Parts: sequence; C-alpha cells; structure tokens
Amino acid sequence: MYLGLDLGTSGVKALLIDAGQKIIGSGHASLDVSRPHPGWSEQNPTDWIRACETAIAELKASHPKELAAVKGIGLSGHMHGATLLDAGDQVLRPCILWNDTRSHAEAAALDADPRFRQLTGNIVFPGFTAPKLAWVKNNEPSVFAKVAKVLLPKDFLRLSLTGEHISEMSDSAGTSWLDVGKRRWSPELLAATSLDERQMPSLVEGTEKAGALRAELAASWGIASGTPVAGGAGDNAASACGMGTVGAGHAFVSLGTSGVLFAANASYLPNPASAVHTFCHALPNTWHQMGVILSATDSLNWLSEISGKKAGELTAELGDVLKAPSGVSFLPYLSGERTPHNDSAIRGSFTGLAHESGRAVLTQAVLEGVAFAFRDSLEALKTAGTILTRVTAIGGGSRSRYWLKAIATALQVPVDIPADGDFGAAFGAARLGLIAAIGADPLAVCTAPRTDATIEPDVPLGGAYADAYQRYRALYPAIKGAMA
Ligand code: XUL
Repeated sequence: MYLGLDLGTSGVKALLIDAGQKIIGSGHASLDVSRPHPGWSEQNPTDWIRACETAIAELKASHPKELAAVKGIGLSGHMHGATLLDAGDQVLRPCILWNDTRSHAEAAALDADPRFRQLTGNIVFPGFTAPKLAWVKNNEPSVFAKVAKVLLPKDFLRLSLTGEHISEMSDSAGTSWLDVGKRRWSPELLAATSLDERQMPSLVEGTEKAGALRAELAASWGIASGTPVAGGAGDNAASACGMGTVGAGHAFVSLGTSGVLFAANASYLPNPASAVHTFCHALPNTWHQMGVILSATDSLNWLSEISGKKAGELTAELGDVLKAPSGVSFLPYLSGERTPHNDSAIRGSFTGLAHESGRAVLTQAVLEGVAFAFRDSLEALKTAGTILTRVTAIGGGSRSRYWLKAIATALQVPVDIPADGDFGAAFGAARLGLIAAIGADPLAVCTAPRTDATIEPDVPLGGAYADAYQRYRALYPAIKGAMA
C-alpha cells in the first residue's frame, strides 16, 4: 500500500492505493482560509497538521489493515505559501497563501531586477514566496529577524511527519528563489531578499526519498516506523503525475479553487513575458508550463454564496445543452489575475446586465468567463511555444458537463474526461510515494487514465463563442481604466 497526502486550500486528503495503483480508500478533513484584510489570504500551519491527523484517523477507521501495510508516502500541497519558522521550528506567523496579493509592490520591485526573470524563468508574481518575505521584512521586521527556515506548505507537513527540512523541485520552482533551469537554489536571488541558503530546506527530486515517518506517528497510525516519505510535488505537478501528464504534448485543465492549464515539457522553455509559469516537474529532468487563473471554481462558489444556492444547483439550472453567450460577460478576477495580466489590483465584473438577466444568466456568464480566462492561458502558452491540441479535465468543477462544453468551445480543442476515478493531486502524491519507496521507473508508474468521454467543441456555437471571447478580451483594459 502507498499513501498520498494532499494539503489542498480547502482541505487535506489522504488517499490509499495498492501496489497495482488501485484506489483502496480515502480520508478527508476541511480547512478554512482567513481573509483578515482585502487581498490577504492566510492559514494557520498547525491547522494543516490537525487536518492531516483527522484525515488519517478517518482512513484508519475505514481501512485499518490496509493503512498498516503502507510502504511509502507521498506529499502534495498548495504552492507558494510562506511558512516561517524560528530556530526551534516554531511557526512565526500565519502562512501567507498562494492567492494572497498583499506583496504586490514588493513583487514588482523584485521583478524589476532582471536576475529574477533570468534565473527563475518566471515573472515574480505577488503570490510567489520571495515577495512575501520582502513584505514581512518591510512590515513585520521583528518576525523577519527570527526567520530561521522558510518552508512551503507541504514541506511543513513533512517536517511534522519526519522531522526533516526538505523540499523538492516542482514546489520550490514557485518561490522565485530557485534557478529553475539548473534545479538548485540561487544564492544570488536569496541574497536579493536578505536571505541565504541556510534558511532554505535541502532539495531532492519529487521521486526521491525525503525523510522517514517518525516512530511516534508510525505507532499511532499503525504503520512501520521509518516508512519513506517521497519528495512529492506542488499540487499542480502532483496532479500531473496522477493524470500521466508527464511527457511533451500532454496537457490538462484543472477546475479547482484556482484554474490551471498545464502542459508537460521535455526541456526548460521559459517565457516570462507571456505570464506563463515555467516550473520544474516532479520527475527528474522534466519541466512544465502552466497558465494560472486565480478564481476558477472560486468564482462559482462566490455566486453560490451570494445567491444562496449550492454550486451544483446553479449549474443544474443551465441544463446540459450549451447556450449561446447571452451578452452578459463576467471577468473572474475576484482576487486579481496571474495569466495573462499579472495584475493583483484588478477585480471581477459583470457587464451587459438587463432586467431579464436572472440567476441562470449570471451562472452561465460565470462559467463562460472562466472558460475565456482559460482561452487567455491557451493563447499565452502558444506564445511560449506550446500548442495544445487536446486537454484532459480534472478538479471539482469538471463535474459540470456544461462547464466542460463551454471550455471545449472557448478553447476550440476537445476535452477528455478520464474514466471514473480519482486522478488528482493525492493520487499523484501516492504514485510518487510508490516510486520513491521501490525505486520504480516514474514513466512506467505515471500513466494516463482511460478516457471515458470526449467533449468536442460545439461547432454551431463556435462563432458566437469567438465573438463573446473578443468582448471578454476588450473588457479587461476597459475595467482596468475604470478602476484606475
Ligand atoms: C499555482 C497556484 C495554485 C495553487 C493552488 O501557481 O498558485 O494552483 O497551487 O493550489
């Protein structure tokens, strides 16, 4: 048995697979995000540990024998978060998350230093880790002075599981301190934020061993002490391992809290000007590109909250047959946007509202707006040299057929739906746990699931969608101007 632990923004998932990669069981525990000020997004790292214990306890209750047979563990987690520890490994302040934009001024200042784009292959986005440390230095100097280690969220979980300070390439590529081409910390970039390598965890590949489960935890979970923990991956690279998106030409669209259009690359192909992210993959000598939109299912959840209807009820109101865009447009920039705008100050909008614009029209506009945001990412990937001819859909939002049809039609590529199963980040993490534990060939393990159905772009509505996308494109500069 192998265990994948995924620390997601909205909860921790523990997933058990057997040696043949069949899913045996899972446990889950929810997490909240606190937003103490506009643009802020934080979590308390000790809540992650508690949630992990709850998820494992659930798994232990339903599958005690199988859990006892675990031979390897893999970790995955939301990326970019700054978990700051003092010399005694005590947490210094709440973790500043990936969708927190408070450090926009610091990000712009670091991004203006050409070494950052040159060495990391990426824009320094406010959500990345380095500008957060610059913000802490400027605003909480007494905290900054005590920082002995900076860990990414899943690596803090690793510390609690193994006692080790270790990270891996895929997650570390999102810090703005990694030399992404050479896969090592850049002393130069660390120094530019008044830090040095001693404050960073050591680095392994995601497929390598990175610590062993502490005896005390092993005893309480009922598994062998010393069970190896793999390097693992940031959640997007972990999902890619779960989906078999590891070779060039493979891509997925993820409809999670954030939205990601992810493509695997056989070499390092940086193109920061396109606002595409170019990161290390979890597999050695492999990289990937992705366009990231900050509010995907989060946009629908927002509408759900203010309309008092569950997200599933909202999408059900649309039925299954794709409609022509109504003329109401939605920009999903509820917490700013990364690809293609790199604009933390922009906010969302509805335009074109009329008396007859009821709830279903708003839902339709939200789903279309997110689909058009993915189209923006598709165009950005194209500029960065990656042309996608089909994508596989994953994430909670992919349960809506309507949304998938809208995405296929907006992107003008077929969207594959994987056969029933769970191929997300926790599954990818479990695969990495398996690879590290037995030294398996990563490519032999990270295969793609069977495709259950393919959603083709709607041909009759292609023209109406193209027009609506042009309207969508024209809105960003107009809204930006109106907000200035
Ligand atoms: C990727 C990103 C998000 C988080 C969400 O750059 O910020 O996808 O990893 O979990």
